[in-house]
Formats: sequence, structure tokens, C-alpha cells
Amino acid sequence: MNVEPVHMKLLHIFRRAEAVRRRVGFAQAISRGIRVVHDRLHTVRRYSPGWSSVYRHPFRAFDFIFFDPEIENFTYDLANLDELAAFMGSVLGIGAKSAGAFIQELEQDSPFRAELNNILRTRLYKKHTALYGRRAGWYCAVRALRPQVVIETGVHDGLGSSVLLRALERNRTEGADGRLIGIDLVPSSGWLIPRRLCDRFSLVVKDSASALPRIAEQERVDLFIHDDAHDPDHEFGEYRAIHKGLSAGGVLLSDNAHATDALKRFSESHGRPFHFWREKPKDHVYPGAGIGLSLPPGRRSP
Ligand SMILES: C[S@@+](CC[C@H](N)C(=O)[O-])C[C@H]1O[C@@H](n2cnc3c(N)ncnc32)[C@H](O)[C@@H]1O
Repeated sequence: MNVEPVHMKLLHIFRRAEAVRRRVGFAQAISRGIRVVHDRLHTVRRYSPGWSSVYRHPFRAFDFIFFDPEIENFTYDLANLDELAAFMGSVLGIGAKSAGAFIQELEQDSPFRAELNNILRTRLYKKHTALYGRRAGWYCAVRALRPQVVIETGVHDGLGSSVLLRALERNRTEGADGRLIGIDLVPSSGWLIPRRLCDRFSLVVKDSASALPRIAEQERVDLFIHDDAHDPDHEFGEYRAIHKGLSAGGVLLSDNAHATDALKRFSESHGRPFHFWREKPKDHVYPGAGIGLSLPPGRRSP
């Protein structure tokens, strides 16, 4: 899905360089270019201790350093979508076949991807193809659980929010209405969300630490997704704050469970079964994040 012909990659690089040159002049543009390459080398080294994966996949590293437009919140396809289906199917109790069908429903949804691609094409520092990675698991969770209220902390561009809203839209056509509340510090967050999906979306521009206690008083939350500041104490605080606003079947999902044990600890202290799955990015230097899922107490573990 993300294989772009070399001439297109060169064209995008030229466009980005030209935009920077126009803004800051030739000498500054060259110095910025050198800094970008330097930062990317640093990123590659961070994710490849001893350069091991660079030796194994030199073209992948080269592609990232010189051609990848993204500087953070990397996007990519997954090499283990089948494992994701098995994980979601087992944990949510719907079976791998149904989970796989939900995941493929998203992956094969060409009109939706085209909508996102059209918006992405207006940005210089974005890939021009929407690649969902582990967010396909979030989509599957919404399709399986049919939540009325979903919270996502950390909206950023709005890729995850778009995927969640598309799942809610599908649920609605099947008679299960639901909405998404996104929380982010940055007012322009969610620019990628197609306008037609925004009627079921509200953005709270606040620190989640101050927004969540109030939301927990007002809402019955069926699915809570942590994806903002990846600090273990902050993350744990989010679960504590939203806990009393969870519905009886409320599920907690962490986008950070590969890096902290906040959701695992919270789950253990509240008698909630916890499960973790790790994604494998396809053709990317980033080794991948994961999905932590915390189920309501008493829900049978697989
Ligand atoms: C990793 S990005 C979110 C990615 C997004 N969920 C997606 O699917 O692409 C993290 C976001 O969290 C926001 N953020 C960081 N700290 C926050 C806080 N304390 N409260 C709310 N948002 C925060 C940042 O502004 C950033 O947009």
C-alpha cells in the first residue's frame, strides 16, 4: 500500500525543499536538510541498536532517511494483520474470523481511504496514503463492541479518530448509534477527519488530566483509548480518572502498553483481565507499538 514510485518520492522531496527554500532562503534550506538527515539517522540508530536492522534492511533505512516525509507519529501498513485478528477475536470473544472480517472491512474500504488521501495530499509533511497500522484493531474494537461513547486522548492529525468515526458510522447503519470525544492540547487537532464524519465527533481542547474527571461525571464511557502523553504516571492517572465514568461493559485500550505497564497495573488493581498484542510494521524502521486491552471485571479471559 505504501510503495510509492521513486520518481514520485523525488518529486515530493523537491516540493518540500522548494517550499522551505521559499520560506527561509537557500542557505537555511540546505542547513535544515542536513539537520533532518541527521535527526533521521539518530531515529534509525535509536530503533536499531548496533545498526543491526540497518544491516539487514539497508534500503528500508535509506528510504526512511531520505524519502519519508513524516517526522513523528509514523504511519505504515502491518505485516501481522492476521495476528491482530486472532488477538482481537480472542480477547473480545468474537473469534478470529469475525475480527478479520472487520479489519478487512477497513483495509478494503477504498472510498474512505481515498477521502483521507485527498486531505493528506494537501500537506507537505504527510504520506499521501492513509496507513492505519494498529488502528485497524481500534476499528475492530468499535465494530465488535458497538459503543455509544468512545473517548480518545491524543487526537493529533486525526487518523485514529477518522478510523473510529468510520467504524461508528458503519455501526449506525446497523442500528447502533455512537459518538467520539477526542481530547488534545492543540486546537487544530483532527484536521484529517472528513467533514461528513464530524457530526458524531467533539474535540475537547484541554489537558486530559483536567478534562477527564468532568467527562467521567457526565458520560457512560464504553471504550476509552489512551494515546496522548506517553508518561506512565499520566497514563495511570487517566485510567483512574475515567474509571468511575465507565459503563458496565466498558473497555480500556492503551496505545502505549509496549512501553509502560500502566494499564496492566491498573487492571490488576481493579480485577480487570489485561491482554497485550504487538504490531509489526511493514517496511519501516520503527519497530512498532501495540494494543493493551483491559476488560470489565469478571469477563472471561481467553
Ligand atoms: C501520539 S499523538 C496521538 C495520535 C493519534 N491518536 C493517532 O491515532 O494518530 C499524541 C497527541 O497527544 C496530545 N497530547 C499530549 N499531551 C496531552 C495531554 N496532557 N492532554 C491532551 N492531549 C495531549 C498531543 O498534542 C498529540 O497530538
